[in-house]
Amino acid sequence: MLLEDRVAFVTGAGSGIGAAGAEALAREGAVVIVTDKNGKSAEAVVTRIIESGGKARALTLDVTEDAALTNAIETVTRDEGRLDILHSHAGVQIEGKLEQVAVADMDLSWRLNVRSHFVAAKAAIAPMRRLGAGSVIITSSNSGVQYDREMIAYATTKHAVLAMTRQMAADYARENIRFNALCPGFIDTPFNHGFEVQMGGRDKLEAYVRDAIPMGRFGTVEEIAEAIVFLASDRSSFMTGHAFVIDGGECI
Ligand code: NAI
Repeated sequence: MLLEDRVAFVTGAGSGIGAAGAEALAREGAVVIVTDKNGKSAEAVVTRIIESGGKARALTLDVTEDAALTNAIETVTRDEGRLDILHSHAGVQIEGKLEQVAVADMDLSWRLNVRSHFVAAKAAIAPMRRLGAGSVIITSSNSGVQYDREMIAYATTKHAVLAMTRQMAADYARENIRFNALCPGFIDTPFNHGFEVQMGGRDKLEAYVRDAIPMGRFGTVEEIAEAIVFLASDRSSFMTGHAFVIDGGECI
């Protein structure tokens, strides 16, 4: 197994990509701390992992609460004795162009899509430095490398977090702490509900995906989980500061 006895901390892991990633990390032998603001969904993911023979624990955690986030990473490191992998995943998508997005929603986007990753990564440095290695995966989006229509809060913050990931990668490369940004395209999870409404319903969204994505389909959470395992493991040991785009060719 690729991740035998490594400890992974995942945020927003109660659903979608975060959940599939947590399950894939556990299948490769990692002890996975499955965190989500919805504690029940985190527990359901942990139950699935344990039933398949993996090791995991659930934590209720809202990543916009700085002290709780820092404290959770420190406590897990103390309890498990190490921290090898941080997948900082939770995010928010607020639709609309400049005139439609409230200032408060721009602040919320910043808080979740940039600031929470800053706080989480900051707490991960000390334990990774002690190990002399670490992999931090920060979920951006392919909206971090291209511009969407009428998504100012999302595209701006997803670009910003990619810049931050690259800066951190440059600053910690000598310490063998790697930072990479995960940049998925359309993956069929509840996350796209807002965009579905903006598009005018599920049929319209599916037609859009068929037309706009060169591969003509949504990606699956399992396809993204493969990339998460790769970035978390030594298979990507010489890779840092990368925007890992997996989007069926959308941003070509
Ligand atoms: P999802 O909707 O399936 O799951 C998101 C999870 O995050 C939920 O369990 C929710 O309870 C949790 N969450 C929300 N706010 C939180 C908070 N403040 N603290 C802790 N947990 C919180 O979503 P999915 O598909 O896994 O996507 C989430 C991330 O992936 C976001 O960062 C998003 O920008 C990114 N992404 C998703 C894409 C997609 O098409 N699904 C495409 C590109 C990026």
